[in-house]
Amino acid sequence: MSDKIVFIGVLASSNSIQDLKAFRGYLCIENGVITGVGANETFEDLKGKGKFDDFQIQYLEPNQFLMPGFVDCHTHAPQFPNIGLGLDRPLLEWLDKYTFPLESRYKDVEFAAKVYDRVVQRLLQNGTTTACYFGTLHKEGSLELAKSAIKHKQRALVGKVSMNIKNDAGYYNATRKELNETEEFVQCILHYKNELVQPVVTPRFAVSCDTELMSGLSQIARKYDCHIQSHISENRKEIEHVLKYFSGYQTYSEVYDRSGILTKKCIMAHAVYLSEKEMEVFARKGVSVAHCPASNTRLRSGLCPVRKLLNNNVVVGLGTDVSGGDSASILDAVRRTMDVSTHLEFQGNPEHAINWREAFYLATLGGSHSVESGS
Ligand code: GUN
Ligand code: FE
Repeated sequence: MSDKIVFIGVLASSNSIQDLKAFRGYLCIENGVITGVGANETFEDLKGKGKFDDFQIQYLEPNQFLMPGFVDCHTHAPQFPNIGLGLDRPLLEWLDKYTFPLESRYKDVEFAAKVYDRVVQRLLQNGTTTACYFGTLHKEGSLELAKSAIKHKQRALVGKVSMNIKNDAGYYNATRKELNETEEFVQCILHYKNELVQPVVTPRFAVSCDTELMSGLSQIARKYDCHIQSHISENRKEIEHVLKYFSGYQTYSEVYDRSGILTKKCIMAHAVYLSEKEMEVFARKGVSVAHCPASNTRLRSGLCPVRKLLNNNVVVGLGTDVSGGDSASILDAVRRTMDVSTHLEFQGNPEHAINWREAFYLATLGGSHSVESGS
């Protein structure tokens, strides 16, 4: 393919959640960078002046259109071998029975490299040009995920999962080891000096991490100015467990907040049961929510009130959350976002419905706001 290419046809992209622009025009790319977008008339004008003489010109078919790549704000690359399987248990049982045993296998770096290379390609084939990944507890295996994203030129945030609370699979680390390995992992990825791939500090969730670990991890995120990601208020039993274990805390958000995790570089998956007060904290601190409708339904976690989050000025993007979610596709997440919002509407909340323009925004620009690198 030529280094300079101009596409002619229908272009669609969101300016804001309310404003989706679709128009006939052109988009030109030089050495992989978009260098011009405009209306048909401008294209004809520039073409007349010889601007595109050395460009390959590609006319889109009448049924084709160009749009920004999808952003998957939350997925678990190591869980892809389980996609569509083992969805018969609620969250905490599902983790113990299916997920921790699978993730334990990524101690084997060769296995990790093989799975991750397929995962990255699968996401790209589904139009996901940016992904925010959970890896596993293993530093070397999770670095393979970053290497695959670099190889296939996907924009990615890659996290080595951190856990220090015991479980039956023996899938956790001692606190000191975990903090050292996380810092080394962050440094390794930064040393790759790849502008598309960045590290993300990844405390799994408050069921798997104590406050000492979470505070240490938030300090690492601050030290290297990188993102931090976790799960919050996905499932009622999970919330009960957290509030029982962390006595003296009023809410799940407070557990993360007092550990220094809630910043504008923080992406929290699920947020199905946040109170309005917690939403207000998220909005004030600039914390983003990755809405994961497939997983929330398949693990019977609940119906996330996305409209309420938006009305409370929380930044929202979409996540596939494989393998709690059963699809690798953000287009599927778009449909399921609309479905879940319609189910809330059926329950007597007419304002909850998310229309297709809004869902398109969440899958693209909304997601990009969640993962953007500005500090
Ligand atoms: N909460 C903690 N870990 C996980 C996970 O792997 N998947 C989902 N859906 N929720 C979690
Ligand atoms: Fe998840």
